[in-house]
Amino acid sequence: MKIAIGSDHAGFEAKNAIADYIKGLGHEVTDFGTYSADSCDYPEFAYKVAKAVQSGEFERGVLVCGTGIGVSMCANKVKGIRCALCTDDFTAEMTRRHNDSNGLAMGARVTPVEKMKDIVRIYLSTDFEGGRHKRRVDKITAIENDEL
Ligand code: RB5
Repeated sequence: MKIAIGSDHAGFEAKNAIADYIKGLGHEVTDFGTYSADSCDYPEFAYKVAKAVQSGEFERGVLVCGTGIGVSMCANKVKGIRCALCTDDFTAEMTRRHNDSNGLAMGARVTPVEKMKDIVRIYLSTDFEGGRHKRRVDKITAIENDEL
């Protein structure tokens, strides 16, 4: 899969480690920054990654900030993006099976890098179940269009 990845300064080191890990899993990774540990604003990087996924060029986006909250909020403002903040294996699996999420957010001040690797591996290898969950995901899209 083609994966877009990004972070702010708080997620910088974890993002780099996760990018290498994802490449090791056999995926193609494009890093949308940040490219140093200097203080920066997470919305800029969340927006870049979310737009890259929205464009269809990338299948999934992975975002890291201090808590994972800021980047997930930003990504979810972009139409067509369903970004899940995950802190454990169970939520990583379920958000793929039930929400068909195309974005994964994690918090570098919350989740150790080794656990992030588990989360991202599960997230990238789990399929959407469809069925009744498709109906519900379609309703998320309807909300985006103010049509529910
Ligand atoms: C940066 O200090 C921090 O606010 C940011 O990484 C993130 O946690 C915001 O949600």
